[in-house]
Amino acid sequence: MLVGVLLSALAAVHGSSALGSKCSSAMTKGTKASSAPFWLNSMPTRGSSSFNSNSSYSVRRSVKDFGAVGDGKADDTAAFNAALSSGGRCGAGCDASTLTPLVLYVPSGTYKISSPINVLYYTVMIGNPGNPPTILASANFTGAALVDADPGYYVNQNNFYRSIRNFVIDMRQLPVTAVMNGIHWQVSQATSIYNVRIEMSRASNTGHVGLWMENGSGGFFGDITINGGAIGLNMGNQQFTVRNVVVNYAQVGIYLHWSWIWLFYQITITNCKVGFHIQTGSTSASQATGATIIADSSITNTGTFLETSTNQPGSLKSAYAVDNVVLKNVTTGISDMKGNIALAGGSKTISQFIQGTIYSGSSTTGKYTRASVTGVTRPSVLVESGRFISRPRPQYATYDISQFVSVKALGAKGDGVTDDTAVLKSIFAQYSGCKVIFFDAGTYIVTSTLTIPAGTQMIGEAWSTIMGSGSYFSNPLSPQVVVRVGDAGSSGVTEISDMLFSTRGPAGGAIVMEWNVRDPSGSKGAAGMWDCIIRIGGADGTNLLAENCPTSSYSAACMGAFLGLRLTKQSTAYIEGLWIWTADHDIEDGPQINVFSGRGLYSESQGPVWLIGTGSEHNVLYQYNIVGAQNHFLGIIQTESPYYQPTPAPPAPFTINSAYNDPTSFSTPGDSWALRIKNSSNVLVYGAGLYSFFNNYDQSCVNPATCQDQILDIDSTSSKITILGLSTVGVVNMLSYNTKATISQSPNRSGLQSSVMKWTK
Ligand SMILES: *[C@@H]1O[C@H](CO)[C@@H](O)[C@H](O)[C@H]1NC(C)=O
Ligand SMILES: *[C@@H]1O[C@H](CO)[C@@H](O)[C@H](O)[C@H]1NC(C)=O
Ligand SMILES: *[C@@H]1O[C@H](CO)[C@@H](O)[C@H](O)[C@H]1NC(C)=O
Ligand SMILES: *[C@@H]1O[C@H](CO)[C@@H](O)[C@H](O)[C@H]1NC(C)=O
Ligand SMILES: *[C@@H]1O[C@H](CO)[C@@H](O)[C@H](O)[C@H]1NC(C)=O
Ligand SMILES: *[C@@H]1O[C@H](CO)[C@@H](O)[C@H](O)[C@H]1NC(C)=O
Repeated sequence: MLVGVLLSALAAVHGSSALGSKCSSAMTKGTKASSAPFWLNSMPTRGSSSFNSNSSYSVRRSVKDFGAVGDGKADDTAAFNAALSSGGRCGAGCDASTLTPLVLYVPSGTYKISSPINVLYYTVMIGNPGNPPTILASANFTGAALVDADPGYYVNQNNFYRSIRNFVIDMRQLPVTAVMNGIHWQVSQATSIYNVRIEMSRASNTGHVGLWMENGSGGFFGDITINGGAIGLNMGNQQFTVRNVVVNYAQVGIYLHWSWIWLFYQITITNCKVGFHIQTGSTSASQATGATIIADSSITNTGTFLETSTNQPGSLKSAYAVDNVVLKNVTTGISDMKGNIALAGGSKTISQFIQGTIYSGSSTTGKYTRASVTGVTRPSVLVESGRFISRPRPQYATYDISQFVSVKALGAKGDGVTDDTAVLKSIFAQYSGCKVIFFDAGTYIVTSTLTIPAGTQMIGEAWSTIMGSGSYFSNPLSPQVVVRVGDAGSSGVTEISDMLFSTRGPAGGAIVMEWNVRDPSGSKGAAGMWDCIIRIGGADGTNLLAENCPTSSYSAACMGAFLGLRLTKQSTAYIEGLWIWTADHDIEDGPQINVFSGRGLYSESQGPVWLIGTGSEHNVLYQYNIVGAQNHFLGIIQTESPYYQPTPAPPAPFTINSAYNDPTSFSTPGDSWALRIKNSSNVLVYGAGLYSFFNNYDQSCVNPATCQDQILDIDSTSSKITILGLSTVGVVNMLSYNTKATISQSPNRSGLQSSVMKWTK
C-alpha cells in the first residue's frame, strides 16, 4: 500500500526543516481552517518499529489506503481488517508482541461493516476528532461486537496496548432485538477509549449493548456518550477508572457484574429506567462486585438511580460508595431488586452514602454501614465547581499541520540504535512552546538526561519510546534522570501524550521520569500527561528479556531502573492513564522474568496532583510512596508486588536511600509496599486495588491471602487522608498504621478479594 499518499504539499515543508533559531510566537491555540484536514492526516508517515526485522513495516496507515469507501453503502469490513492485520501483526495465534504497533487513521465518513473489526494487539485506532467517522453495522451484521479488542485470541489479563478515539458507533440498522455489542473491550493495562458516541435502539425490548467487557485488568476510558440500548456499559474487570460518560435513553445505563475495585466519576445519566445496576451480595461461591465508587455524577428523569441485585448484603458482601451525586426527578434512589429501598428518590444531592465497612485511624474494628454519612472534605485546589477536575487528552483537533514539527524530519533517528540525545535537546530548545512536537513512532535512545522544558506540547504515535541507555544510568548508588519534565520550579502548559518511557538494561540507576513542572498560576491541570507508559524490561530492545533474566535468579544485568516516576515538591500534575510496569514476563516470548526496578511512583508534591487511572507494578521497595506531600487525588490506583519476592526480600537488590525517603521496613515475608503515605495531608484515594499474587512464583498463597502480611501503610503524622474503596488480594492485612497491621482481610473477604469501603484519618 502506498501510505505515502497521505503526504500533503504542506506537510512536505515539515520534511525539510532545518534547525534554526528559537521560534518567537508562543502557541496558544489552533489555527486550522475549518476545511483543512486533521493534522495527522497530513503528517508524513516516518514512524517505524525499531526492533521489527521487517524494515518496511508501516506503523501508521489510513483505512482508505486499504480500499475503505466510507460512503455508508459499501461494505468496508474487509478494508478495515486488512488495514489492521497486514504486515504480520499480532492476531490469532500470537499472544502478544511489541514489534507491530499500529496507528490506523480513519478519516470522516460512514463505514458500513457486516462483521467485527478486530482491533489487534498494540493498535491505536484514531478517527478525525473534528468530525468523527461513523462505524455503521449493516442490518445483516453477524458477530459478537462491531469493534472487538479480543476476538478470543488473547489472555485477558495480558491484553495490553489498545486505544480507540473519535468514533461514532451506530447500531440502529440492526434488528431492535438483536443481542449485540458496540465495542467488546476485554482488555488490561495501557488501554483507553476516548471521545466515542454509541447510538443504539431506544426501544424498551432492545438487545443492544454499548460497551461490553467480561474480565481483564484495566484500564481507563472516558468522554463517551451512549444513546439507547438495553445496557449502556456492561462491565466486568478487576479494576477500571471511568470518567465522563453520558448515557441517555438506555434501559440500564451502567451494569457492573464483577470487579474488585471500580471508580465511575462524572457520569451523567438521563432518561434511563435504571441508572446503575451493581451485581451484589452473591450467595454462590462466585464473587460479584468488590468495591464500587460512583462520584461527581448526576442522574435525571430516571426510574432508579442505583439498583443492587439481591437483598443486602448476602453471604458475599459487595460494597459501594456514592459520593457527591445529584438526583433530579429520580423515582427511587437506591434499592435492591426485592424493593428494599435504602435511599429514597426525588431531587437532591447525595453527599455520601456508603454500603460497606468503615474504619478510621488505628482502630482494628470497622462498622458495617448502609446509610448516608459525612462526605469527604475536598481541598479547593483539587476541584472545579465542587467536582474533581477533568481534562480530556489533547488531540490538537483545531491545530493546523503547520503548527507541528516531526522529530524525525528534524534529524532524530528513533531507530533504537542511534544516540538521539543531542538532536532531541536542540529540538526542544527550538520548538518547545511554539510548535507541537510530534514523536514519530520509534525508539529514541538517550544516553544522558533529556529535559522536556515547561511549556512543551508533545505527542507520540502508538507510544513512541524514549529509552535511557548506557553507563550514565547504570549505578543504583548514583541515580540519574532519563527524562526531566521542566526544571525545578518551572511552570507552563505542558502536555505529553501517547509516549512510552523506558530503559535499556542494565540501568539500575535510572530515574525514568522526574516531573518538576507546575501549572501556570490561575490554571489547574494544565501541566499533564495522558495515556503514557513507563515500561522497564520485557520488550525487545531493553536487554531485559527471558534469555538473560530468567526467573529464580538475580543478575546485575537485570537491573532495570532505580525509580519510575518522581513528582518533586514544587510540581503539580494531571496524569490520566499511566502504567508503570516493571516486566513480570517477556512480552515477545511469554515466560516470566526477573527484572529489578527499585521504586514505582514517588511524590513529595505539595499539589495539586491528580492521578487518574494509574497503575504501578512489580517494583522492589514500593509501588506508590507519598511523603511530605499534600493535595493529591488518586482514583483509582492499582498495584502488584513483584512475583519473585521474598527471594530476594526488599530492599535487595537495591539499598535504602534516605535522600529519596525510602521506607526502612517491609512486610514479612519480604515484600514491597503497594502504597505508603507518610507525613502527608489531604491525600484522597478514590479506589485502591492492591494485589500480591505470588510468593517466589508460587501462587498457592493467593486464596488463603498469605502472599504477604502488610501492603498499605499510613503514618500517624499524616492527616486528612481518605481511602474510599480499598480491595486487596493475597494479603493478610489490608491496612497498617505506623507499620502496625490494623485492618485484617479475613472479616472483609468477598470472593477472592477483600474490600473495605472507607478509611479516614
Ligand atoms: C513488512 O511490512 C510491509 C508493510 O507493512 C508489509 O506489506 C509486509 O507484508 C511485511 N512483511 C512481512 C514478512 O510481514
Ligand atoms: C450484508 O450486507 C452488505 C451490504 O450492506 C452486503 O455487501 C453483504 O454481502 C451482506 N452479507 C451477507 C452475508 O448477506
Ligand atoms: C473471561 O470471560 C470469558 C467470557 O465470559 C470467559 O470465558 C473466561 O473464562 C473469563 N476468564 C477469566 C479469567 O475470568
Ligand atoms: C420525571 O421523569 C420521568 C421518567 O422517570 C418522566 O417521565 C417525567 O416526564 C419527568 N418529569 C419531569 C417534570 O421532567
Ligand atoms: C513533613 O513534610 C513537610 C513538607 O510538607 C516537610 O517540610 C517536613 O520537614 C516533613 N517532616 C518530617 C519529619 O519529615
Ligand atoms: C468487614 O469487617 C467487618 C468487621 O470489622 C464486618 O462487620 C464486615 O461485614 C466486613 N465487610 C465485608 C464487606 O465483608
